[in-house]
Amino acid sequence: MSRLTVDGEPVVTKLAMRMEDSLQAFAVRSACFIGELDVPFSEEFDGHDFGATHIVAYIGEEPVGAVRLRWFQSFAMPERLAVIQRFRGHNIGSVLLERCRLQAMSRGCNMLYCQALPRDVGYWEKQGWRRLVPEEEGAQPKRIVAMVKAVDPNKPLPEIEAPEAVVLRREAQLDSTGMPHGTVSN
Ligand SMILES: CC(C)(COP(=O)(O)OP(=O)(O)OC[C@H]1O[C@@H](n2cnc3c(N)ncnc32)[C@H](O)[C@@H]1OP(=O)(O)O)[C@@H](O)C(=O)NCCC(=O)NCCS
Repeated sequence: MSRLTVDGEPVVTKLAMRMEDSLQAFAVRSACFIGELDVPFSEEFDGHDFGATHIVAYIGEEPVGAVRLRWFQSFAMPERLAVIQRFRGHNIGSVLLERCRLQAMSRGCNMLYCQALPRDVGYWEKQGWRRLVPEEEGAQPKRIVAMVKAVDPNKPLPEIEAPEAVVLRREAQLDSTGMPHGTVSN
């Protein structure tokens, strides 16, 4: 539970356990990504939401922020971090990311990994993340930057086995059954 307050009201984070909670996360994301940042619906809701953990930040009853956490073999991946515009400037994003870290720790996961837009790299660095691969001087600007953070600050990250090109590969598009396109099902 966080101790952050906004105008004297505590900011509380909760795991979405009921459909209603997930809908609150989706509402926050719709406002921020689709409404504010012009992300197409199909990109925002990409078929991975029902296999993910959603964390919602509340002030009183109001959902003010959300993040989605996906689980991979060797890392947990926070995505879709968003705080409703009028509630920004209070570090609510940071509280949501800290909840992701604690959630990963409780599952025995050692590494957090995310894919950031170049314009947001500064934000992730402020939150204690670093680039998976150090920036090369004079290299072409990247479309997406892979970033990592140790779940336990006292335990250095394990060797990262997958090269960046593998970690950043495009994920399969899902068909209506939820299987990657082209998968033969029985
Ligand atoms: C990213 C986001 C969740 C942060 O919201 P927030 O918790 O209210 O963040 P704050 O405004 O309190 O900023 C926290 C710190 O990060 C800094 N920061 C915020 N956005 C930043 C960015 N894009 N690049 C670098 N620094 C940034 C702030 O200056 C502040 O620094 P300070 O503590 O030294 O003053 C929010 O801006 C958002 O919802 N954006 C739209 C959705 C989005 O782009 N998500 C992508 C995830 S990064």
